[in-house]
Amino acid sequence: MKTKAEASAPGKVILLGEHFVVHGEPAIVLAIDRRVTVTVKVRSDSRVFIKSEDLGISGFFKNDQFFPQRGDGEAKRRLEPIYAVAKEIIQKCGSNNGVNIEVKSSLPIAAGLGSSAAVSVASAAALCSLFDFKESKDNIFQIAFNAEKIIHGNPSGVDPAISTYGGILQYRKSKPIRRLHVNIDLPLVIGNTKKERSTGTLVAKVNNLRRRYPQIIGKIIRAGGEIVERSVRALREGDLETLGELMNINHELLSAIGVSCMELEKLVHAARNAGALGAKLTGAGGGGCMIALVSPEKIKDVADAIEMAGGEVLITRKTDAGVIIEE
Ligand code: PMV
Repeated sequence: MKTKAEASAPGKVILLGEHFVVHGEPAIVLAIDRRVTVTVKVRSDSRVFIKSEDLGISGFFKNDQFFPQRGDGEAKRRLEPIYAVAKEIIQKCGSNNGVNIEVKSSLPIAAGLGSSAAVSVASAAALCSLFDFKESKDNIFQIAFNAEKIIHGNPSGVDPAISTYGGILQYRKSKPIRRLHVNIDLPLVIGNTKKERSTGTLVAKVNNLRRRYPQIIGKIIRAGGEIVERSVRALREGDLETLGELMNINHELLSAIGVSCMELEKLVHAARNAGALGAKLTGAGGGGCMIALVSPEKIKDVADAIEMAGGEVLITRKTDAGVIIEE
């Protein structure tokens, strides 16, 4: 057994189909070149110690009990899925050793860019490498997905899927993952409202609305799926104008199911007014990030407009690299 191992995994943006994907419709998601790196080391005792300098949290688990060191209540909620990943892998390997897990991230948290899934995926890969446990990418995805269920309640699995496999995926719950081969550049400007929110709470809010208005919300969900299907064609044909228009429609549907907010609306409208081909919230909404599809000559105008409207701008690129074990 090694004494130390490291793995990294990318964050993501959902191009189209968030929320509707929880209800069985497809979504299109792409991996971005901002990554989470997890370093793991074997301990001589059985504790699982987890630390994230970026989040200012740390603590250890012993016999499923949590002992915070930094960050208190927040620490337990954020570190629990990482512990679940560690516990599953340690049990599978039949090891009596605990581990030290250190997380380094260049992704904003609770912003819709998939940081928690990237942490779970990178942790699973690093721990498998540490214990010389040969897991396929499919199994790493499954372990991370199980951990996501602890924090998000009923997630679709889109976040751990893109963090594991990278590239651009068409994702549909319980269906084989489809890799989309897109030959065009997708110039995206991300705007962060800096308002943190909980994905689980927003998913529950949509479930509740659907329960109360099954016919109406059911039609919106299906329309969300049709937007994705039409967008796959636009992507294949390199038709960014159509894609932008479909992103706008997708945003309005998300607004209709109650997951937009004033801060997101401001950034979305600022981006459109500055010449974006399309703009929408990305991820769970309620805060977090929006994305704008822009022609290259408009990137600066759109980025400036988002900043003027109070957003923090992130310029990222699509990456094909999913989870990587650093040798
Ligand atoms: O992790 P977030 O906040 O980017 O949201 C994930 C997308 C949702 O569709 C809202 C939830 C899910 O599990 O698919």
